[in-house]
Amino acid sequence: MNFQLSEEHLMIQQAARDFANTELKPGVIDRDEHQKFPTEQIKKLGELGFLGMMVDPKYGGAGMDTISYVLVMEELSKIDASTSVVVSANNSLVCFGLEKYGSEAQKEKYLTPLATGEKLGAFALSEPEAGSDATSQHTTAEDMGDHYLLNGTKNWITNGSSASIYLVIAQTDVSKGSHGINVLIVERGMDGFTIGPKENKLGIRGSDTHSLMFNDVKVPKENRIAEDGFGFKFAMETLEGGRIGIAAQALGIASGAFELATNYSKERKTFGKPICQHQAIAFKLADMATEIEAARLLVLNAAWLKDQDLPYDKASSMAKLFASEVAMRTTVEAVQVHGGYGFVKEYHVERLMRDAKITQIYEGTSEIQKIVISRSILK
Ligand code: CAA
Repeated sequence: MNFQLSEEHLMIQQAARDFANTELKPGVIDRDEHQKFPTEQIKKLGELGFLGMMVDPKYGGAGMDTISYVLVMEELSKIDASTSVVVSANNSLVCFGLEKYGSEAQKEKYLTPLATGEKLGAFALSEPEAGSDATSQHTTAEDMGDHYLLNGTKNWITNGSSASIYLVIAQTDVSKGSHGINVLIVERGMDGFTIGPKENKLGIRGSDTHSLMFNDVKVPKENRIAEDGFGFKFAMETLEGGRIGIAAQALGIASGAFELATNYSKERKTFGKPICQHQAIAFKLADMATEIEAARLLVLNAAWLKDQDLPYDKASSMAKLFASEVAMRTTVEAVQVHGGYGFVKEYHVERLMRDAKITQIYEGTSEIQKIVISRSILK
């Protein structure tokens, strides 16, 4: 068993670390405070190949593996989780399914601009009344022969207004339950498709989260991915991979907060010595480091299983469940180590604490991960 990263993985990790420090760090507080989308940064990430990391180069992708993807997600998330969620949604929630199940024509038309970063994508599953209970889709895609008529509302859509290509999950035949659901490629600008106002969020404030409204949108039949009724399985498989990306995001948030807390504890003095020399602080650092290491192993294990084409549903849910809880605990403790300074924006840890919370919610809450894990154990 070899726990060493390869030379190539180390180079990709270093490239992401350098990018995060030089391109993301300088404006991160301002983007968070004013909810500014990282437009320039996303353009540069596209040029580096980080928006279609695992896509075959023949469709404009970088042809990397999932291990590389999680290394990049961790490094970006140490500094700016608002930017990393854009990267994760495009890679895991949009490019992955399009490449695996899209037709050749769909890949040429939609995957290539997404993988190169020329266009951004969004994945639209959640609804006002269908978040965790994903089969209860109220959005309908009525079969009209040569097209579907799409009606309904989607909520909490990452890349809601920055995307131009949307994978929309909708119910075609309610009598068939999860087998009556389809996934359609919807383009921004189609008649009847409107985007709601930006959500004012607790964390990941630089990313744009919106509702999407569909009112008699005519979607051509050729925009359905895979066979009729495959939409629910498509969504579940997409989320299975997506959870590895979010687990890596949570890991990055935790390790970013840990690095800040460690550095601060070496500089800040109380009672005549650096606070890291008080056991009250040193023990906190030891707990954080241990949990982060355990989360990293779970994340890498899930990524490795996916790269080997082995089942990874349980592993990805375990990684997301554990890493998101570690992110929450670590960021709260990192604020505590900083004392009053931790409560102000300049020290970054309060933002990481706010950003950590969403990792326990999106792409399935912690409770949903426990459903997936327990079903896998008990089946
Ligand atoms: N891969 C392939 N097929 C799968 C699957 C998977 N991972 N998981 C389930 N399926 C299949 C099942 O085999 C079953 O097929 P059959 O009927 O042929 O046997 C079918 O799908 C229905 O499965 P279930 O009966 O297990 O479905 P369920 O209704 O009980 O739901 C659930 C299971 C795990 C709770 C699921 O609804 C779920 O994951 N919910 C959470 C959804 C979620 O994560 N939402 C977040 C929104 S996206 C987001 O946050 C993105 C963002 O912007 C960042």
